[in-house]
Amino acid sequence: MPVEFNRDTGIINLHNEKISYIIQILGNRYPVHRYFGKYIPNYSNLDDLPKGNHAFAVDTTEDFPFSITSLPLEYSTIGDGDYHQPAYLIKDEQNHWLPTLKYCGLSITDKLPHGNLPQSIGDSSEVTTLVLHLADDVTKLQMDLNYTIFENLSLIIRSTTLHNLGKSALTIDALDSLQLNLSDDNFISFTLNGTHAHEANPMTSQIDSGIQLQHSFRGTSGPQHQPFIALSRPETSQFNGEVIGTALIWSGNFEDSIEVDQYQKTRLKIGLEPTTFSWQLKPQTDFQTPEAILTWSNHGYNEMSQIFHQFSTQTKLSKPSPIAINTWESMFFNVSDSKLSKLINKAASLDIEMVVLDDGWFTNRNSEQGQLGDWQVDSNKFPNGLLPLVERAHQRKLKFGLWIEPEMVTTNSNLFQEHPDWVLKYANRPLVTARHQLVLDLSREVVREHLLKTITNLVKSNQLDYLKWDMNRHLTQVGNTQLPATEQGEIYHHYVLGLYDLLNKLRQSCPNLIIENCFAGGGRLDFGMASYTNQTWLSDLTDSYDRTKIANGFSYLFPQAIFSNHVSAVPNGQNHRSTPLESRLQLASIGQMGFELDLEKLSVEQKDSIKKQIETYKNWRKLFLYGSFYRLTEINDLNIAWLITSSDKKTAIFFYSYGLTSSVRKIQNMPLHYLKDNINYSVNNRIYSGLQLNQIGLAISPSKQDFETSLIFITENSHPSN
Ligand code: DGJ
Repeated sequence: MPVEFNRDTGIINLHNEKISYIIQILGNRYPVHRYFGKYIPNYSNLDDLPKGNHAFAVDTTEDFPFSITSLPLEYSTIGDGDYHQPAYLIKDEQNHWLPTLKYCGLSITDKLPHGNLPQSIGDSSEVTTLVLHLADDVTKLQMDLNYTIFENLSLIIRSTTLHNLGKSALTIDALDSLQLNLSDDNFISFTLNGTHAHEANPMTSQIDSGIQLQHSFRGTSGPQHQPFIALSRPETSQFNGEVIGTALIWSGNFEDSIEVDQYQKTRLKIGLEPTTFSWQLKPQTDFQTPEAILTWSNHGYNEMSQIFHQFSTQTKLSKPSPIAINTWESMFFNVSDSKLSKLINKAASLDIEMVVLDDGWFTNRNSEQGQLGDWQVDSNKFPNGLLPLVERAHQRKLKFGLWIEPEMVTTNSNLFQEHPDWVLKYANRPLVTARHQLVLDLSREVVREHLLKTITNLVKSNQLDYLKWDMNRHLTQVGNTQLPATEQGEIYHHYVLGLYDLLNKLRQSCPNLIIENCFAGGGRLDFGMASYTNQTWLSDLTDSYDRTKIANGFSYLFPQAIFSNHVSAVPNGQNHRSTPLESRLQLASIGQMGFELDLEKLSVEQKDSIKKQIETYKNWRKLFLYGSFYRLTEINDLNIAWLITSSDKKTAIFFYSYGLTSSVRKIQNMPLHYLKDNINYSVNNRIYSGLQLNQIGLAISPSKQDFETSLIFITENSHPSN
């Protein structure tokens, strides 16, 4: 039984064989946090909660000798004595904040909380959800704190559900998915930050008295900050040490924060961004927050990543995608039937498996200023439409995919002319465009219905196998003329729910369609989008050296199976760097492989190299995509090394990215850490014990040219060692 509840002490131990999450129902009144970490089977109540009155705390009472000012409440608000950042702010009819809600019971189910949100998936054999019921007697609000545990994962899923059982509407101004108290402040914070073409940079900082906060006001999750934060001990490395990580399964505005209080206690929170969120909770209605994933690891960042990766394979639609050639970097808007026909032939001759027609295939789209929203094939560029091309690709055993940016519209489209009210906008204010485009109001069903019909028709009538779902601007003027003034604060939230609804229905109408998530690269790679899409275009930066760093950053959270990396031309269009073709091919092999090159311009040698790597990729595809992924270099190391192992550890791939060459001819040993000590391995025709490779490792000689990489295949040596 993964939930043990001792009614006498009020202690609840939610656990599996790896972790315990311990809560105490204090005085039958408030759930307080006692512990999160390695499984403790027989936790007995510690006397470590401050009792009695103390300076600047709200008074205690005879029947409850604790002051909520200094209690590690599981979920707290301000207004009646907890002075930390609030996890919830809910107003009654008088515009007064509700007090700290009181415990009124618990239930245990084998289900996840319901809702129209992306969720962790699990059947009843492996999932247990503890629900703590809290309530406010005056307004009749019921609040459920949901804690889900899986049989084999070192993580808890947390969320909050509100049920307004009263007669008046309440206003939710803040509602986090998770609050977690930690009993000291000896932590480093770890976050992933960036910008367009520079996504997912790991950042560590010392936490200190006060509040450290990250958020998105952009209507989408990133790429400035990832909806994720970890707290680790100062000595934590990739391999050892304690890390607590939390990430939100959500693709819109979020906030995470760390607060260190006057007693050097730390409070971690993650959830909906409160400034851009407010919600009228009408009588007899419910509200469900997104889920937060909370991981615990005692073996460093790699173990944290393994937990996120394992969780992610439960939620994501994992299937190997065909090796793609995408038209964007070689043709930009200048696409045509004849170019695509040639591309199909060339791609087939190189054993590529899919042709993707990127931006520019539809009417009036010859530049970024062009039209978006109508999704009609440009008959000047494709006089016969797309279907004959798709059929030709299929005949040559290639799949065919298309780029689309469904959430957008431009004023020069027929769609906007017919439905000017379908965009997000403020009444009586000039429209704000970005990349010359406006955002469709996905909070409205009529808009979503139109999009679903249009996209489904596009996919079915053209027999498309794949869609690259792009988005190239953030939200502004998030309002509409539909909702009353009191509900305008809900539109950011409805937008994301609308997006999920649309993706969900598209999945149902086109079940075999591969969807690639793209926000001008990895600008909306989060656990929400990862639940609806098969893979993600990691960045618009295709330079292999910098993209390795971006992939390294995203690997803290996501498995490489969803990374889409393409071989592009040099010098690179974004950063003008030239990297060796081998390095570009090797990086593209880790994840979903693809190309952006002009195949017409390849030399015979280049074609040979490409064909060879494609063959290698196909032979090792399962491991490249689904092997367990480990980082072998530390957060601040200049170079990057990865190890990908099969689950039985009999095969592995080692990847190393060198930076600049050096006149110092230093040979470095790179321990591999994650092989099996007692297996003998064959590496480059030599035999090594796993123990030696784990402890001493492979020798890395200096590179001969800038930005080289190496890719080494490691297999079990089946011959007895001599
Ligand atoms: C941004 C994407 O990241 C690119 O790969 C490309 O599809 C362009 N949009 C097209 O406009």
